[in-house]
Amino acid sequence: MAGKITADLSGMTILITGASSGIGAHFAEMTASRGAQVVVTARRRDKLEELVADIAAKGGRAHAVTVDVTSATSIRDGVAAAVKAAGPIHALINNSGVAPGRPLLGESAEDWDQVIATNLSGARHMAVEVARQMVEQKSGGTIINMASILGLRQGSHVTAYATSKAGLVQLTKQMALEWARYGIRVNAIAPGYIETPMTAAHFETDAGKQQLLRIPLRRLGQVEDLDGPILLLLSPSSSFMTGSVLVADGGHLISSL
Ligand SMILES: NC(=O)c1ccc[n+]([C@@H]2O[C@H](COP(=O)([O-])OP(=O)(O)OC[C@H]3O[C@@H](n4cnc5c(N)ncnc54)[C@H](OP(=O)(O)O)[C@@H]3O)[C@@H](O)[C@H]2O)c1
Repeated sequence: MAGKITADLSGMTILITGASSGIGAHFAEMTASRGAQVVVTARRRDKLEELVADIAAKGGRAHAVTVDVTSATSIRDGVAAAVKAAGPIHALINNSGVAPGRPLLGESAEDWDQVIATNLSGARHMAVEVARQMVEQKSGGTIINMASILGLRQGSHVTAYATSKAGLVQLTKQMALEWARYGIRVNAIAPGYIETPMTAAHFETDAGKQQLLRIPLRRLGQVEDLDGPILLLLSPSSSFMTGSVLVADGGHLISSL
């Protein structure tokens, strides 16, 4: 399409978490189609293998590595397997996440722990493991954390999720500060509502349809709406950006509704 950002990612190896579905699967296809070698990770092996086969059928290079981000051992083994399969990792897209909607008073301590373990601790452990190999190879690198506008505003019945994403925003800035000396840039993207398996059912409901009316651009985002921010943050054109949070939300955050 005329006007689309073109970016050549050849020579770049990108590890993407939460790549078995939605935004992560799209990022894998989109970056592989621009020449990146991708390592796709998540828990569902069958979905990852389908994705790798699709990318390979289009001439791209992809590897599937099963990782559960709530397990430090799985992360350690997964990053080692990724490096063995694909060589040094230049970029990490920390995208895996869960978003159960429930009121705080209807949530168990275990429910809360699961959200924080996946969305916040999982992102931290994965970034640390990948950063260690970036430091070792003295190459620098780029890490992109998938936050959410709910890390910057409040919403009903999403306290664990919103708290995990607010933590991820702060984690992004802390990591950016600590790792700048190694040439590792750390930034976040804060999407608004994007149509994926995480959100599709909700936006079929009356409450979901009402919510769409509060988005100034009056539509649900599509996974392609995040291509600009992700390509910018992967590119050397953003080499002076670290600790930033790019919002892509159709204006939801600036709306007073
Ligand atoms: N869709 C939106 O409106 C929206 C808005 C803002 C931010 N986001 C963020 O964007 C990211 C992707 O969301 P999405 O909409 O694409 O959702 P999705 O389609 O439900 O995908 C979530 C991904 O996370 C993976 N995942 C969940 N738990 C995991 C675990 N313990 N270990 C490893 N992987 C795990 C899932 O893979 P397996 O189940 O195979 O493990 C899946 O690939 C999330 O961080 C989400 O919070 C989404």
